[in-house]
Amino acid sequence: MSEPALAAQATPGSGASGQADPIGARRTFAIIAHPDAGKTTLTEKLLLFGGAIHLAGAVKARGENRRARSDWLKIEQQRGISVSTSVMNFEYDGWTFNLLDTPGHEDFSEDTYRTLTAVDSAVMVLDAAKGIETQTRKLFEVCRLRDMPIITFINKMDRESRDPFSLMDEIASTLALDCVPANWPIGMGMDFKGCYDLFNKRLLLTGKENRNLEPEVIILEKGLDDPRAAELLSAEQRAKLREDIELIEAACPPFDLEAYRQGHLTPVYFGTALKNFGVDELLKGLGLFAPPPRPQPSEKRMVEPTEKAVAGFVFKVQANMDKNHRDRVAFLRLCSGHFKRGMKLKQVRSGKPITVSNPTLFFARDRSLADEAWPGDIIGIPNHGTLRVGDTLTEAEDLRFTGIPNFAPEILRRVRLSDPMKAKHLQRALEDLAEEGVTQVFRPRIGADWIVGLVGPLQLDVLAARLGEEYNLQVGFEAAPYETARWIDAEDRHDLEQFIEQNRGAMADDRDGAPVYLARNAWELSYTEKKWDKIRFHATRERS
Ligand code: G4P
Repeated sequence: MSEPALAAQATPGSGASGQADPIGARRTFAIIAHPDAGKTTLTEKLLLFGGAIHLAGAVKARGENRRARSDWLKIEQQRGISVSTSVMNFEYDGWTFNLLDTPGHEDFSEDTYRTLTAVDSAVMVLDAAKGIETQTRKLFEVCRLRDMPIITFINKMDRESRDPFSLMDEIASTLALDCVPANWPIGMGMDFKGCYDLFNKRLLLTGKENRNLEPEVIILEKGLDDPRAAELLSAEQRAKLREDIELIEAACPPFDLEAYRQGHLTPVYFGTALKNFGVDELLKGLGLFAPPPRPQPSEKRMVEPTEKAVAGFVFKVQANMDKNHRDRVAFLRLCSGHFKRGMKLKQVRSGKPITVSNPTLFFARDRSLADEAWPGDIIGIPNHGTLRVGDTLTEAEDLRFTGIPNFAPEILRRVRLSDPMKAKHLQRALEDLAEEGVTQVFRPRIGADWIVGLVGPLQLDVLAARLGEEYNLQVGFEAAPYETARWIDAEDRHDLEQFIEQNRGAMADDRDGAPVYLARNAWELSYTEKKWDKIRFHATRERS
């Protein structure tokens, strides 16, 4: 299918229409990848092409510089990884992109999951030599829960890679997704010559490479029939390409925009982020195909982005992003309405009004003041702990957005203070950090120690470092006799009371006072579940 035909199916994104239809021009997305696949490099290049940065290296500088710029916390510096999530906003060809960064370490926190609740689509980056890796699969599963549309970018084609057909096959078979290549590589590694643009039947070839500039891309509008193709590609390369195209046409379904938007089909781009090849095409693909802000589920009904009244939900709260601003910022995903600075919004949980006088839009670490925002945009609202993850803010109606869950922790630890006199202080600190989603806290019904619950081991280091740095609390963690936790409820209140009574030693309350059953191991959990069939055990809990 040609680009104009695809564009007719997709939302147009020309500058003019972007102005006329700010909602239709918005694309809010995240990049999912296994560590080292090239997420940081691709992010940087997307920003470069989007004109948001002018020098390569602003996102990922080397050595000390890199740490100082992109890592917010000391723990990140020590580990050399990025733990926090950031939001970046840029424009390209009439579209406004909001890119939400997700931590790429193997060990991920609930932050990652929640960030994925705030985007409308995702780009999945694969290393061409490795294909689908463990983390890719985990993140993909989270996207699938929400039928999120995914565009695939197969990176590092400038290195020795796996056969492109085997990569396509792997995506199709392990993720159960139809794959439609948008472009097709010509050679790989040292012999990587560029790609054939299957949607527009053009050749995109790498030209001269300059160390400081992006490589020249030669576009041959007539594809393989262009007389210059014979000059630029060997007979062997052309023959192989013709053969590949024939096979693709026979084996792949045609591109179907609806199937992509429903999360059943992924367009696949090949390229190399490091050498800037394929990044431009990926951005255009995102603009043309990725969905504009989608309707968001609330308890009562779906909320359409075109509705007049402003509504949004908090998917992340972060403290101390900058030592100079010792504030806390709630990240609000706007779902409907035209937001203007100074607006008064209601926090539905408390019923209290909040005047949003100094909201921020994000570009990496720089914050700029937002005067207005549209559905799909993320705004940062500085506050002193009033706003919590899962909160809905609205202009009028009492609605509550759903789908921002707590996840059952996989690691449970007792927190031990080196100075027992600071117990109250610890309680406040843990509650603060729980609000941010750094940890979950459980108060056992019997015993005085707090139990923290985490989704991955790295969160323990983050927690200890933050307690030390920000609250001056030296803590150690001890194994708790539990391995897993489940939120419980029952149809009949008496059944629930009876369960709690008979399992008092294994009961705790989460920070909102919801009852939680702590199991010593998976076997005990399954035994209890069978024995108490009137009790419902939940691995996730919607935030209240
Ligand atoms: P991540 O955020 O997904 O963890 O990956 P990141 O971008 O940090 O990339 C991981 C490594 O892969 C980096 O090399 C990066 O330069 C390299 N890389 C990314 N894209 C490409 C590509 O298209 N081609 C090639 N050949 N390499 C690529 P590093 O040596 O670990 O880091 P650095 O010293 O280059 O910063």
